[in-house]
Amino acid sequence: MSLPATYRALVCPEYGQPLTLTTRPTPGAVPGSAVVKVLSALVDPSEKHRLLLNKRNPHFSQEPPFIPGNCAVGRVAALANDATSLQVGQLVLLECFVRGRDDPDAQALRGVYEGHTPSGKRLTHQEDLWRDGFWAEYARVPLESCWRLDEKALLGSVEQGGLGYKISDIPFLAKHAVAYGAFRAIDLKAGETIIISPATGSHSGAAVQVASAMGARVIAVGRNADTLRRLSESNARVHGVSLTGDVEEDVRRLSQFGTIDAFMDYTPASLKSPLHLRACVLAVKSYGRGVLTGFPFGEFSLPYGLMIGKNLSIRASYMYQAEDLRGLIKLAERGLLKLGESSGAEVIDGYTLEQHDEAISKADEHQAWGRQVSLQPFKE
Ligand SMILES: NC(=O)c1ccc[n+]([C@@H]2O[C@H](COP(=O)([O-])OP(=O)(O)OC[C@H]3O[C@@H](n4cnc5c(N)ncnc54)[C@H](OP(=O)(O)O)[C@@H]3O)[C@@H](O)[C@H]2O)c1
Repeated sequence: MSLPATYRALVCPEYGQPLTLTTRPTPGAVPGSAVVKVLSALVDPSEKHRLLLNKRNPHFSQEPPFIPGNCAVGRVAALANDATSLQVGQLVLLECFVRGRDDPDAQALRGVYEGHTPSGKRLTHQEDLWRDGFWAEYARVPLESCWRLDEKALLGSVEQGGLGYKISDIPFLAKHAVAYGAFRAIDLKAGETIIISPATGSHSGAAVQVASAMGARVIAVGRNADTLRRLSESNARVHGVSLTGDVEEDVRRLSQFGTIDAFMDYTPASLKSPLHLRACVLAVKSYGRGVLTGFPFGEFSLPYGLMIGKNLSIRASYMYQAEDLRGLIKLAERGLLKLGESSGAEVIDGYTLEQHDEAISKADEHQAWGRQVSLQPFKE
């Protein structure tokens, strides 16, 4: 596969301004990198708000101009000489989390967030390296973030023993990865019961799928009865529950399923403080665990003495580790974690880079878990 001299990409010139379709010189595979031909790139339901309507978000943004797009799947088109086992043509998952090679604590989300430390910012401020996301025909990625996929298992036909997925079913794995990282951080085990609150957002719905695929029973909290129904119909051991805000009543509702081993809080950034954290802390068993994975930017209080008395372990979890991604991909390749329409989601694909406005509006129509919209920079 030879690289063309130029490639096309969607560029965010400034927050609040329309994206521009730009032609740029195609990057080469500098040492430590691969250049990947992008076949399908996810359009997040929040992109419209993050890129086009909002001013720069003080908590979560990156210095423009940059190419958006944080999850994709593609085929390796060029490799640096120091690649040891990847091959040109290999199908790979692309995700946005980059870490400093000389300092793994220097972190950024390419195309999304430049990180909160000066060392993290250096990763996205180098114009030609890792600042751009995947709404483009080609992307250069670090070799260690080029996650190889078993194409035969994922895309092969069911008659031939494959899972029969289409290419646009795969990028959503990058959302599953955040949940898998958080569950591994609290050592969630098969057979355990976990509360996920709320459970109907784009990431939190993905968390319900992952916990179920890992063999846990899920108490999925939400107001959106339709999404809860779809999640419980398409995933094993999922029970939808609506909570009232009255802590005593909420603990009663959560406890109807028996012992609760763990909870995950996935409160969105639109809220100042965690939604039902107190009820989760009260409902979880002694020696139970909790993981905070959402992004409310306010502060909150918790019953200190009770948490000590119950010997609770509560931790925060941001993104994931390399080992998490490898494990998650295996869950999908073995058919335990379902992707695309077989997971109960609606997958709307086929949008070209020119049709980005249409794709962004389509994704924005349905903020809850259950719709996956993608751009297809290249169709095979
Ligand atoms: N830890 C990490 O590494 C990491 C990585 C990626 C994302 N995140 C963060 O995780 C958070 C959640 O992501 P997401 O994609 O799931 O968010 P989302 O799609 O915005 O989800 C919104 C969820 O919050 C619920 N909700 C919103 N307002 C509510 C209210 N007033 N009362 C009750 N429920 C309410 C919604 O319930 P209804 O369906 O009832 O409206 C839905 O379940 C985001 O803030 C995101 O930034 C964290």
